[in-house]
Amino acid sequence: MTQRPAARVYRPTRGNIALLARRLQRGELVAVPTETVYGLAANALDAKACRQIFRAKGRPANDPLIVHIYSLRELAELCVPNAAALALAKHFWPGPLTLVLPKTDRVPGIVTSGGASVAIRMPQHPVFRRLLKSAGLPLAAPSANPFGYISPTSAEHVRQNLGSKIRYILDGGPSRIGLESTIVDLRDPTSPRLLRPGAISAHDIERVLGIGVSVVKTSASTSDQELVAPGMLLRHYSPRTPVILHDAIKDVGAANEAYIFMRKPAGRRGGENVFWLDERGRLSGVARRLFATLREVDAQRFRRIHVELAAGDPFAEAINDRLRRAAAR
Ligand code: TXA
Ligand code: MG
Repeated sequence: MTQRPAARVYRPTRGNIALLARRLQRGELVAVPTETVYGLAANALDAKACRQIFRAKGRPANDPLIVHIYSLRELAELCVPNAAALALAKHFWPGPLTLVLPKTDRVPGIVTSGGASVAIRMPQHPVFRRLLKSAGLPLAAPSANPFGYISPTSAEHVRQNLGSKIRYILDGGPSRIGLESTIVDLRDPTSPRLLRPGAISAHDIERVLGIGVSVVKTSASTSDQELVAPGMLLRHYSPRTPVILHDAIKDVGAANEAYIFMRKPAGRRGGENVFWLDERGRLSGVARRLFATLREVDAQRFRRIHVELAAGDPFAEAINDRLRRAAAR
């Protein structure tokens, strides 16, 4: 997996941020920290720069990108917002929420996979915000992983996976949330649809909008997913090792199989094949450690990885969505 790295990891100093902002203005790619996962960013208004994102990730052209903005002032240049979108933006931005809205002519087709809508998010990570401000551009950025593999939650994850494909990685420390943003389709403001669950739940959104949010199920096949939403394939975020899901793991078996618990199992010492995501099973901690743990365990070449599903508050839905995708073959 580790190829000869061309990429350099930059600490978030003022000088480095100014340098990387200039690289973005010149049409180059920069991997960036966000509060959800690391992203691979390019100038969203530059079709040629955005095309390189697809090349570096091995991402199919029919999977559109999310555009990241620094301030609400940029919104009208990129999309046609409605009152519902503005209400959610005021409430949750900057933060882990992406809104799908009709696009303007300023957004190149490559960003939206030729579609008439664009996905927009105002991120919260202070380092990414400084870079956005310094570049003075909206930045298109999907997660900075090779297509289909587990999303990165640290600069080192990006370097391991894309180090031979890109030159610049901005280090903002481990991602605080650890799961990709919640995506809401608001093209029809009277019937919002949840396209991807995240740290902000459908319930949180309903509370702000005062109307119901329908949940779009991910699908296993390419043909019907095209009808629902682009980039919603079930298989995604997958380790190479097969993943088996359990409501609760009762017994730890053979040493060549890994067991990942939600919380530290009572009365059990951590063996070489026993892992847990959060000491006390808090879901925010589980989410933060999920992708990093799957990567670490995947690298150890177990025969199979057994993982417990999360239970409890609405955050469990987002965690289990990623686990089901990791387990899909
Ligand atoms: O938290 C996040 O959202 C991270 C960070 C980097 O911001 N980004 C991220 O991007 O997860 P990515 O490319 O891995 O996922 C983007 C997904 C697409 O796969 C697709 O499902 C959805 O966003 N998307 C993008 N544009 C869309 C559109 N116009 N209509 C519907 N879905 C869209
Ligand atoms: Mg992704």
